[in-house]
Amino acid sequence: MAIDLTQNRPEFLQSGLSLDELNVDPIKQFELWFKQAIEADIIEPSAMSLATSDGLEVSLRTVLLKFFDDKGFVFFTNYASKKSKQIESNPQAALLFPWLALERQVKISGRVEKISTLESLNYFATRPKDSQLGAWASHQSSRLSSRQVLLTQFEAMKNKFKEGEIPLPDFWGGYRVVPHSIEFWQGRENRLHDRFIYKRVEDVWEISRLAP
Ligand SMILES: Cc1cc2nc3c(=O)[nH]c(=O)nc-3n(C[C@H](O)[C@H](O)[C@H](O)COP(=O)(O)O)c2cc1C
Repeated sequence: MAIDLTQNRPEFLQSGLSLDELNVDPIKQFELWFKQAIEADIIEPSAMSLATSDGLEVSLRTVLLKFFDDKGFVFFTNYASKKSKQIESNPQAALLFPWLALERQVKISGRVEKISTLESLNYFATRPKDSQLGAWASHQSSRLSSRQVLLTQFEAMKNKFKEGEIPLPDFWGGYRVVPHSIEFWQGRENRLHDRFIYKRVEDVWEISRLAP
């Protein structure tokens, strides 16, 4: 092997996590950790891995969290992309926030639903014009014969929408992951990490400690 990774043994010593310090509401607990990730200046705390599967294949990619609240975790994408096709066939997904600088990760799994067109429109309107055009120009996840094809498509959209507001593409918008479980992981010494999982049982969140 070109690089020997077997001796890479980071120790996680920054902090611990106990049941008494956890908020009974996992969304509030997530909000606290999210704020701490921002304060710690980590790169893109809102970047999360999104795993989907159509039952045959599992696939994974990074997307950006744009909103979260009691209803769930929202990201935006192309509704004809690979991830969207998988979500259509199996509306279950997992999210992972790898906040490694804080020796933390948060894992979320849940049901995925499309947000309303109005919610997508409200967010689309806040995007810079070039990002709006980018959404129009890219048939995300389809094969491209060259970068030039993409740039030509971008120019064509720029021309098409040179006057007035750029409309929301009907193939673009948000999805909400409605969580049924949320796990908070804090690295500890000797691989004896702290893990707590919240599971929604009817309308109540039950918390359990998991072995690391
Ligand atoms: C930091 C980062 C943020 C990203 N954010 C998004 C996003 O919010 N929405 C999106 O559709 N793709 C985003 N992407 C691109 C996706 O990772 C992926 O390439 C794309 O969505 C196509 O995925 P799919 O073919 O599995 O559908 C991001 C990539 C990175 C590295």
